[in-house]
Amino acid sequence: MSESKKFVELDKSLHDRESFDCGELELNQFIKTQAAKHMNAGISRTMVLPALSPLPNQKLPICAFYSIAPSSICRETLPKAKAKKLPRYPIPVFLLAQLAVQSEFHGQGLGKISLINALKYLWEINSHMRAYAIVVDCLSDEAERFYTKYGFEFLCEHNGRTRMFISMKTIESLFS
Ligand SMILES: CC(C)(COP(=O)(O)OP(=O)(O)OC[C@H]1O[C@@H](n2cnc3c(N)ncnc32)[C@H](O)[C@@H]1OP(=O)(O)O)[C@@H](O)C(=O)NCCC(=O)NCCS
Repeated sequence: MSESKKFVELDKSLHDRESFDCGELELNQFIKTQAAKHMNAGISRTMVLPALSPLPNQKLPICAFYSIAPSSICRETLPKAKAKKLPRYPIPVFLLAQLAVQSEFHGQGLGKISLINALKYLWEINSHMRAYAIVVDCLSDEAERFYTKYGFEFLCEHNGRTRMFISMKTIESLFS
């Protein structure tokens, strides 16, 4: 299986959600049962990288995906030096809610490509509607190590997960 070059919005009539397996049950379940519903409800957007060749059901396997949504954090969760420059009401951020790569592609650079694509997409949105940072909630220690590699820092514990963030200023310096 080889992947296309472009992320597109999830379309359940075109993309085969059933065959997606990244090794994390929660993320597999998300793409199969929730991603499209959340888009219909207007609460997040899921972008997928489809394979080039269709399955016998004529749908394209999903090689990787990510989901994004607007969110907010309390300034108290940030390191003191950063927090003191911010107001006391909720601080707008972008939530990189999910990111996963089909298991057969692990270790071939698709996680990095997906993350860069998601960061660039959010950076473009930020030129229209500002957010302070991008946050991710890590499902595992491996996910935490993956995001640390790309400059994400510890923010707080959130619903039993490690929440990490990268400031929009850092993203700006990467892409502008
Ligand atoms: C985490 C995940 C997205 C990484 O995807 P991948 O395609 O295997 O990653 P890549 O091949 O692009 O690796 C990019 C870099 O991250 C590193 N990396 C990949 N997985 C890592 C891990 N689990 N821990 C630490 N570093 C990791 C690689 O060594 C590589 O570094 P290098 O460029 O210096 O060699 C993938 O393993 C996955 O889908 N896991 C299950 C879902 C998940 O945990 N998602 C995280 C969101 S909670």
